[in-house]
Amino acid sequence: MIYLDNAATTYPKPPAVIEAVRRHVAEYGGNPGRGAHRLSLRAAEAVYACRESLSALLGLHAPEGIVFTENTTYALNMLLKGFLKESDHVLISELEHNAVYRPLWRLGESRGVTFSVFPVVGKSIPQLLQGIEDRIGPRTVAVITTHASNICSVTLPLREIGALCRRRGLRFFVDAAQSAGRLPIDMRAMGIDALAAPGHKSLLGIQGCGFLALSPTLQLDTLLEGGSGVHSRLPTMPVELPERLEAGTLPVPAIAALAAGVSFLRELGQAEIERREKALFLATKERLSALPDVVIHQPEEAGAVLLFHRKGEDATAVAAALDRAGIAVRAGLHCAPLAHKALGTPEEGAVRVSFGPFNTLSDADALWQALKA
Ligand code: ALA
Repeated sequence: MIYLDNAATTYPKPPAVIEAVRRHVAEYGGNPGRGAHRLSLRAAEAVYACRESLSALLGLHAPEGIVFTENTTYALNMLLKGFLKESDHVLISELEHNAVYRPLWRLGESRGVTFSVFPVVGKSIPQLLQGIEDRIGPRTVAVITTHASNICSVTLPLREIGALCRRRGLRFFVDAAQSAGRLPIDMRAMGIDALAAPGHKSLLGIQGCGFLALSPTLQLDTLLEGGSGVHSRLPTMPVELPERLEAGTLPVPAIAALAAGVSFLRELGQAEIERREKALFLATKERLSALPDVVIHQPEEAGAVLLFHRKGEDATAVAAALDRAGIAVRAGLHCAPLAHKALGTPEEGAVRVSFGPFNTLSDADALWQALKA
């Protein structure tokens, strides 16, 4: 199988990631923070080591600001539902995933939260920033944006948006589902108050854990209450992070895997990842452009994700034919109907090809040959 669906989850995983899972399960499988015996302490050390490496990677103020969650969607729900109050207004980009759009829609029903959408596609940075400025109103409290789209390689200028948010007294929240591990992020320098990301995509961990990285100035209401391992007599959740937001047992095997994934990425280097992704994008674009009736969306934005459709052909049928030829891609709306609308893809969506650190140019050739056939 040639795997070109890395935006859904990266595959394969580095051997060190698989070994980290095995080691936790086989050698120190205690419950962190829930006992003082050595297996519990060893598990707690592994969890803390992962908090430290994520916090260093993302330029967060302290490892305690890393709150582990089940996935990015959970982290975004925790953030939006823990922060937004009755009648608040927020701004989101037109490239948002349903992980941002649907919680906001629900908050509209339950708390009267409203949102406005600012344009990104085809805009220069000054135009994009003006689009945000134009939509700020008296009740606006935050800007929430994806860093990198999950359907094309458009990325948003975080540093500039963060600076605008600081000037206008707004909070700045980032969905880094498609960028954490691939693109440089410095939360403090970029003025990011909270950032949500998965462990199993570009950070190369396994499915089962994501996280919310929180600046110390943000106090969230809890989404879930339960055991925290500290202040157990209290009927309420502790105030300190990360315990306040981590009710129940953590997914330690996935957290250990995530730490191993970050180490692997550090060795490979972000510049090398970017170089490989761009080379694969350009090679694939060149091959696909030579085929009749292929339309590539945002072809000038080279990166990890290439979106295309074939005129007159259903995207799902194209993906099914590629699967039969041994090539994994994802077709349809990719849980991002707003973004598909912004790009103007056909009603049923398009075909997404997404690269990871283990793809090679021969994968681009195989895709081209299969599409020709
Ligand atoms: N959000 C993931 C994707 O884009 C699952 O495929």
